[in-house]
Amino acid sequence: MTRNLYFLLYLLATITPINAIPHKLDKRTTVFGQCSLTPALPTFQVTVSPDPVVAGKLATYNFSGTAQTDFPNDMEIFIMFNDTESTLDGGDFCNIPGNPACPIKRGTSFNRLFSSVQIPEDLPASHTETVLFIQADSVTSTIACAVATVS
Ligand SMILES: *[C@@H]1O[C@H](CO)[C@@H](O)[C@H](O)[C@H]1NC(C)=O
Ligand SMILES: *[C@@H]1O[C@H](CO)[C@@H](O)[C@H](O)[C@H]1NC(C)=O
Repeated sequence: MTRNLYFLLYLLATITPINAIPHKLDKRTTVFGQCSLTPALPTFQVTVSPDPVVAGKLATYNFSGTAQTDFPNDMEIFIMFNDTESTLDGGDFCNIPGNPACPIKRGTSFNRLFSSVQIPEDLPASHTETVLFIQADSVTSTIACAVATVS
């Protein structure tokens, strides 16, 4: 987690949700959508349990979708709360037990459960959650992004 966080901060400053509008019919509080970035990044589906997350507790994130580019074998997940790098969690996408190995070829569907994510103690009820898939050691190479605003 001591990589080029300056870039991350720069990136996060430009992220706003563009299609995270909750559907009236489902009960989800935390609805992820594509990050508003230029150039646009691929996105993916995210659900979180519990929904909404509880400050100071653990949560499980469920990532799924179709790889829109090849996912390298050193891909990492970053989860950021309220767009601040000081409150992030994450880990290796490719080393979650019980899942197929990376790399994942473009066009292949994927589904990973990422559990034991520590929710910051001071996370307010209104906040954003941003998930980045990043190639390790190359933070400039963000592969995909999803963001949710919880109000
Ligand atoms: C994770 O999300 C996918 C896609 O919505 C779903 O098919 C799968 O059942 C979910 N897994 C769990 C454990 O909730
Ligand atoms: C987190 O973001 C929300 C929504 O923008 C804001 O109301 C809240 O004050 C922020 N909290 C912190 C600790 O930054």
